[in-house]
Amino acid sequence: MKTIISPSILSADLCNLGNDIRRTKEAGAEYLHFDVMDGVFVNNISYGIPVLQAVRRNTDMIIDVHLMITDPIRYIKEFAESGADIITFHSEAGSDIAETVKLIHSYGKKAGIAVKPNTPVSDIYKYIADVDMILIMTVEPGFGGQGFIYETVDKIRELRKYADSLGKELDIQVDGGINAETAAIVREAGANVIVAGSYFYKSADLSAAASSMRG
Ligand code: DX5
Ligand code: ZN
Repeated sequence: MKTIISPSILSADLCNLGNDIRRTKEAGAEYLHFDVMDGVFVNNISYGIPVLQAVRRNTDMIIDVHLMITDPIRYIKEFAESGADIITFHSEAGSDIAETVKLIHSYGKKAGIAVKPNTPVSDIYKYIADVDMILIMTVEPGFGGQGFIYETVDKIRELRKYADSLGKELDIQVDGGINAETAAIVREAGANVIVAGSYFYKSADLSAAASSMRG
């Protein structure tokens, strides 16, 4: 599967976001990763609907929304109508998973389910046939700039094997602590959608940073 790069704007210059989004597109990234944190599901608060609307007005890139919020089904409509192209929510966040996927699809958006590092991937096996993407968190959600948790690599391998056994072309996304070295590890294990925040935006040459994660 083709590797897709999704830079997380959590590490962009938020006072010059329009400029950083333009540079992200010029660097050849396919998606823009938009992290939403509510201070309840995770111990941090990021940004939400009005910022998403502003980003949507600013770019035609595919916006990949990662909801780190409690009971996400309450906000699917607003995120869908505010310009998200892909909406990923956490399996641990309290909403009915099948219903949430169905609701995301009813707006014509791609649906993803995220699992934290300690959540077994087998917990979400029964939803795989109906979902577009699974996000395997490679750090505990909540903050950019953390170190990659190597124990998550086996989960990626296990998930790819399971999806292949179903004959499903599943997008497997990874998020947290990704740089050129860890990107190579997760790609080898079966991930094809690579999120990177601090590694990408701290690079002097964004195109080189994007290519370095494609292998
Ligand atoms: C963490 C967020 C990530 C974060 C990744 O909870 O979901 O998307 O921005 O940042 P890095 O790549 O710096 O680990
Ligand atoms: Zn994220």
